[in-house]
Amino acid sequence: MTAETAAKKVFIKTFGCQMNVYDSERMSEALVADGYSETGQVEDADLVVLNTCHIREKAVEKVYSDLGRIREAKERRLREGKDTMVTVAGCVAQAEGAEISRRAPVVDLVIGPQSYHRLPELLRQSRATGQRIVETAFPDEEKFDHLEPKRQVRSATAFLTIQEGCDKFCTFCVVPYTRGMEYSRAVVDVEKEARALVEGGVRELTLLGQNVNAYHGSDETGGETSLAALIRRLARIDGLERIRYTTSHPRNMSDDLIAAHAEEPKLMPYLHLPVQSGSSRILAAMNRKHTAEEYFRLIEKIRAARPDIALSTDMIVGFPGETDADFEETLDLVRQIGFAQSYSFKYSPRPGTPAANMEDQVPDALKSERLTRLQYLLTNQQDRFNAGTVGQTMPVLFERTGRNAGILVGRSPYLQLVQAEADLNLLGQIRPVAIRAHGPGSLSGVIAA
Ligand code: SAH
Ligand code: SF4
Ligand code: F3S
Repeated sequence: MTAETAAKKVFIKTFGCQMNVYDSERMSEALVADGYSETGQVEDADLVVLNTCHIREKAVEKVYSDLGRIREAKERRLREGKDTMVTVAGCVAQAEGAEISRRAPVVDLVIGPQSYHRLPELLRQSRATGQRIVETAFPDEEKFDHLEPKRQVRSATAFLTIQEGCDKFCTFCVVPYTRGMEYSRAVVDVEKEARALVEGGVRELTLLGQNVNAYHGSDETGGETSLAALIRRLARIDGLERIRYTTSHPRNMSDDLIAAHAEEPKLMPYLHLPVQSGSSRILAAMNRKHTAEEYFRLIEKIRAARPDIALSTDMIVGFPGETDADFEETLDLVRQIGFAQSYSFKYSPRPGTPAANMEDQVPDALKSERLTRLQYLLTNQQDRFNAGTVGQTMPVLFERTGRNAGILVGRSPYLQLVQAEADLNLLGQIRPVAIRAHGPGSLSGVIAA
């Protein structure tokens, strides 16, 4: 056996949002620095990490069914004399803590999102003592200051978490409990990481936060920097071509951020701005802190600044007390605004959140019916948006190879997937593509001269 094949192997599976994708990359980097190599096969893994999501009940069920399969793999490996450590990270870890290893004794380590910098150390501790460990405190130290500083560049587009946590407490949502209070990373740290990524070949950065437009990181002088100011600063990095950010809250959509969409050419014309419902009565019960009318006015302002902007939203149907009339208002809002992209869900009661105890829970069959109607409308809108770009020539950043040989896949400024015949050496580069056709979920075109 060579030294390389003898290295411990880690399998990481990521559920949930982009912040988890980012966190998984950071955990992987910390583990690689600690002597692990990554594997895509559970059967080969000395360490399995599930980076979990608690947002809806279904997301949690998936974790437990995966843990069942991992237990079987662990038993098979044990018969071959190999040990397997199992770690549950992410928002289920934070929300359920010790309950996880009670339900799934296969789990050795439960680690919340604020403690990832301690992962290698806790793994060693658990292995040495043979004891289960649950680490879900919100430590005073900042994990980002302790995580492996070297970023591994995987593609021309990268996520960069700049803000974590949420103080909004929407009544349906677990995030304020699983991710804690809103926190912004310092500008210098963000800029350092951005520069390192760009030096490694990254051309597009997506700045991440549960409430990314509430960003207020401190700068060198101790002053506060808004997201708009941060974007303008990052835009000065040579070699960085595109900037995106997600997810934004309507309440934090400030005038300077809207102006940046008009003025900063590197800021892409795409905005994910979840509204959740078109009924102001339901929005109030959700504690969204904005009405449908305020959302309409906000969209008007944004479109005045950047008329071609592609808008995206999250929607919840069947929130407690949602009547047919409320739901019709949701359909109306969607019709009036026209979204290029969307994510819609049936309301899922989450333990510990206020809405879970509200009266008038909506029956599941009705939620399903409403979701089908809403998604029909939203899918049509997405189709129409994509059809509207056929005939245009747009810059596309090629991110990866397609399923068929000779095809590269990239993104348009509006975040649409675009496939085109292209030479492999165009990976990581931006080229104008004449869009010829659109299918469900992606466009195809040819590179323009
Ligand atoms: N911070 C972001 C999104 C967080 S969660 C924001 O404020 O928009 C992503 C999406 O999941 C939410 O926008 C919401 O639409 C959905 N979601 C959150 N909790 C949910 C629940 N209990 N049931 C169904 N959908 C939920
Ligand atoms: Fe959840 Fe609301 Fe915070 Fe978004 S703003 S993370 S939906 S509590
Ligand atoms: Fe899920 Fe946690 Fe993200 S609950 S959506 S992984 S912040």
